[in-house]
Amino acid sequence: MTADSTPDDDDATGQDPVRRDFLSLVTLTATGVAAGAFAWPFLDSLGRGGADPQAAPVEVDLSPLAPGQQTVVVWGGKPVFVVRRDAQALAALQSPALDRRLRDPDSTEHQQPAYAANWHRSIAPEYGVMLGVCTHLGCVPRLSPAGDSPGKSNGGDVGGYVCPCHGSRFDLAGRVLSGSPALYNLPVPPYRMLSPTRLRIGDNPQDPGFALDSIRQL
Ligand code: FES
Repeated sequence: MTADSTPDDDDATGQDPVRRDFLSLVTLTATGVAAGAFAWPFLDSLGRGGADPQAAPVEVDLSPLAPGQQTVVVWGGKPVFVVRRDAQALAALQSPALDRRLRDPDSTEHQQPAYAANWHRSIAPEYGVMLGVCTHLGCVPRLSPAGDSPGKSNGGDVGGYVCPCHGSRFDLAGRVLSGSPALYNLPVPPYRMLSPTRLRIGDNPQDPGFALDSIRQL
């Protein structure tokens, strides 16, 4: 939730945007998105505010994810996007043309642990891990297919995220595009790699003591 915005809790449908948009993730299949690995009962724990920093860790098996696919898990009552980025996407994330369109391309704002303050905002470049909560007013962004992506006008048409509430756009590392209502990159939760194909959300790698509630904007 932004410090300088007034939340509008319900839209014209009378539904909480966070709940409504998280529900919509379930139906995301047309773009090769694997929206699974979360249980319906978790939806009842969704609400405004940050993820519970004391939440039990959640392990994610990455082996079913093909390049370009995403799975969504729930950690601390919030959706967490885990996306596998292909070679084209990784090249685009390093594109100076895309960098120029980003508000914080170098992750200078404290929106991630130090071990994810890099061009791919993650531990392993191939896998992006970020909280699926828009830093404007807390809706759940949607994975945007190639053809409607932040990199479109730069020839780096590899997809990204679009927030359905007010149109904020993010690249596949969760970096916000300039001109979006959201001012900050999507938060990266604490996590560590247990193996090349398995990660645990909620734990830091050995030493670094990063807590999600320390970030600039959740
Ligand atoms: S909640 Fe407003 S753009 Fe995402």
